[in-house]
Amino acid sequence: MTAIRQLTEQDRRARAEANEGLPTLAFDATTPYDDYVGTDVLHRLQRTVTDVPEELPFLVTTQVMELYFGLLRSEWLLAQRQLDDDDDAAAIQTIRRTVRHFQALNAAWASLSWLTPAQFNAFRDALGEGSGFQSALYRHVEFLLGNKSEALIRPHRRNPRAHRELVAALHRPSLYDSVLAFLARAGYPIPRAVLERDLAAEYEPDAGVEAAWAEVYAGPLAPLAETLTDLAEQFSDWRYRHVMAVRRSMGAKPGSGGSSGLSWLERSMRRDVFPELWTARTLI
Ligand code: HEM
Repeated sequence: MTAIRQLTEQDRRARAEANEGLPTLAFDATTPYDDYVGTDVLHRLQRTVTDVPEELPFLVTTQVMELYFGLLRSEWLLAQRQLDDDDDAAAIQTIRRTVRHFQALNAAWASLSWLTPAQFNAFRDALGEGSGFQSALYRHVEFLLGNKSEALIRPHRRNPRAHRELVAALHRPSLYDSVLAFLARAGYPIPRAVLERDLAAEYEPDAGVEAAWAEVYAGPLAPLAETLTDLAEQFSDWRYRHVMAVRRSMGAKPGSGGSSGLSWLERSMRRDVFPELWTARTLI
């Protein structure tokens, strides 16, 4: 937490009066805005590796998305604590907020949607083996959405903090696990085998959970189901827009992260998050 000299409403009124309505122009040190936002550090992070003008928007868009991954992670950890406390109203509010964050994150794809293969080729070699696939925070976000995979932690084994956090996240409940545990405590028939499953294993859709969601939709917790559906849809949107950016800027060439590229991404796109929330709709 940053230490900041606090002002009361009374202080602000006195300042505005002393300034005759104009903003404060004189500060003894750096501005409080710079101190709070960390602008000095933030704007030194745009270190491009080529002089190609198209690289800067690529880097800044990637950094913006990385910040959003971090924001989603911390918000969903909060939502999990609220669900653990059986405070569904607070959890719904938090998750609903993250639907908005996700919309803003997805809107950022517009900043890359102009990138042609020739423009991308001009700086692509200089990125070496770097790929968004190696984002530890993205991996954490996927784990929280329920897409667990021990193998995908391996790229981070030389980064002790990221590795430790991902191992912990692999073995902890996902947001979906927390929701199902909450529903069970609220009296919905979530099968015991699902509640006691190996949390590190890939989630397998379950007919009992599907039936429980159909029941949830008929009761007061329907807004929780709809908010999670909104979230799942935003995540699908992120994946779809990413695939479109890949198709536009590099076609079906192999990825810099070592995968086959488009076909690998299209395969992982087929995995739904919160799967029974989609299939339960057929039962309703
Ligand atoms: C035109 C721009 C982009 C292209 C051509 C591209 C290409 C690719 C490719 C080919 C992969 C598959 C792994 C590999 O590299 O072999 C991948 C994965 C990934 N990329 Fe991008 N990417 C682009 C923009 C971005 C941006 C802006 C982000 C934001 C951080 C990002 C995040 C990711 C993530 C998180 C994965 C892993 C997805 C998963 O595990 O399912 N990509 N990208």
